[in-house]
Amino acid sequence: MPAVKIAPSILAADFANFGAECRAAEAQGADWIHVDVMDGHFVPNITFGPAMCKALRPHITTVMDVHLMIAPVDPYIEAFADAGADMLTAHVEAGPHLHRTLQAIRAAGVKPGVALNPGTPAEAVAPVLDMVDLICVMTVNPGFGGQKFIESQVAKIAQLKRMIGDRPIHLEVDGGVDAQTAGRVVEAGADVLVAGSAVFRGGSASAPAPYGENIRAIRAAAEGVWA
Ligand code: DX5
Ligand code: ZN
Repeated sequence: MPAVKIAPSILAADFANFGAECRAAEAQGADWIHVDVMDGHFVPNITFGPAMCKALRPHITTVMDVHLMIAPVDPYIEAFADAGADMLTAHVEAGPHLHRTLQAIRAAGVKPGVALNPGTPAEAVAPVLDMVDLICVMTVNPGFGGQKFIESQVAKIAQLKRMIGDRPIHLEVDGGVDAQTAGRVVEAGADVLVAGSAVFRGGSASAPAPYGENIRAIRAAAEGVWA
C-alpha cells in the first residue's frame, strides 16, 4: 500500500497569514499543500488567483496542489504555471474542452489533474485517464470549507480506483474529510486526502501543535484500514 498523503487546504487557514500557515502545516506533517482557487462564477465564492499562488510558492517546500474552481480555465493556465504550481487540477464541468485544457496544462510543464463534482459520474473522466496525474473526487459541492461529507461519493471513489487500474494516477478526495471519514475513502482507494477545517482547527501559525495532532489523527484513521 502506498503511504496516504495528507494535503491541508489553506481555505481553512488564516487568509492574512498564508505563508506562515503553509510553513506551519508542513512542519506539522503535511505532505502536500492544497490551494483552492475560486472565481465567484464556477463556484459561488471567491478566494484568490495566480498572484497569491506565486507569493505562496516560496513558503511551500512539498507539493503545491492547485485546485482550480474557475471557468474558463485555459486563459489562466500560463499564469498558474508561472506561479509555480506542481499540480493544476481543472474541473470536468468547467467547460466543453476538457481534453484541450489537460493538454495545455501538460504543455505548460505542470502535472494535470481532473476534478469531478458530486453530481458528475466517474465515466466522465474515462476518455482522459491517460492524460492525468491526479483525479480529485469532490465529496462536497465545491465553494466552501466545513461542509458535510457526501457519503454517496464513496462508491464513485471505488469505481474510479478500478478504472485507474495500474496507471500512476493519484486518487484525491476533497471535502468533509476528517478522522471519521478518512478510513472509508482510503478503503475505497483514495491515496491523497485534502482536509481544511479538520487540519486547521484549534491552532494557529504561532501555536501550530494542534495542526500536527489533527494531521496525525487523520493519517491514523486512514492507515488504520490496512491494519
Ligand atoms: C471545497 C474545497 C476544499 C475545501 C475542503 O470547495 O475544494 O478543498 O477547502 O474543506 P473541508 O476539509 O473543510 O471540507
Ligand atoms: Zn479543493
